[in-house]
Amino acid sequence: MIDRKIAYDLVSAQHPEQNMLQHAIDSERVMRALAAHFGEDADVWGLAGLLHDIDYPMTKNSPEKHGVLAAELLAGKVTDDIIYAIQAHNTECTGVEPKSMMDLALRAGESVTGLVTAAALVRPTGMEGMQASSLKKKMKDKSFAASVDRERIKECERIGLALDQFLTLAIGAMSEK
Ligand SMILES: [Fe+2]
Repeated sequence: MIDRKIAYDLVSAQHPEQNMLQHAIDSERVMRALAAHFGEDADVWGLAGLLHDIDYPMTKNSPEKHGVLAAELLAGKVTDDIIYAIQAHNTECTGVEPKSMMDLALRAGESVTGLVTAAALVRPTGMEGMQASSLKKKMKDKSFAASVDRERIKECERIGLALDQFLTLAIGAMSEK
């Protein structure tokens, strides 16, 4: 399996926009924190987070290929379970069902990064001092960061994490320098 540096270079080679590169890194951080929480392999879960949108620059206008092209790009480079999780993160289009803890963590974990990022932008102190309670309020406001899928964030419950706990974990992971 490729290491983190090669994975990062693979993502960069697709020339993602800066916000998507940051999204990849944020997703990696949240996935590593989730893996640590569950006693799973943080390197594997981290790679799933870092790589999950690798095909986004090629598929942003054809979402039905999102996750499908990624699987082709990553074949033979990472383990099958990482490729499966990446396909399952776009189950709505790929039809690949999330099954494992890592699959479910990736869907919820990559979605929550959008919420935290949007909330930080409207706070004078950014992520510093951010609380799960204020994120929960923002989730109820449908006009706030409307593209962030609330239902996918709430899928954290499928891996046994209460929403509060999950939001707190995500804030902590994304705040790491
Ligand atoms: Fe993503």
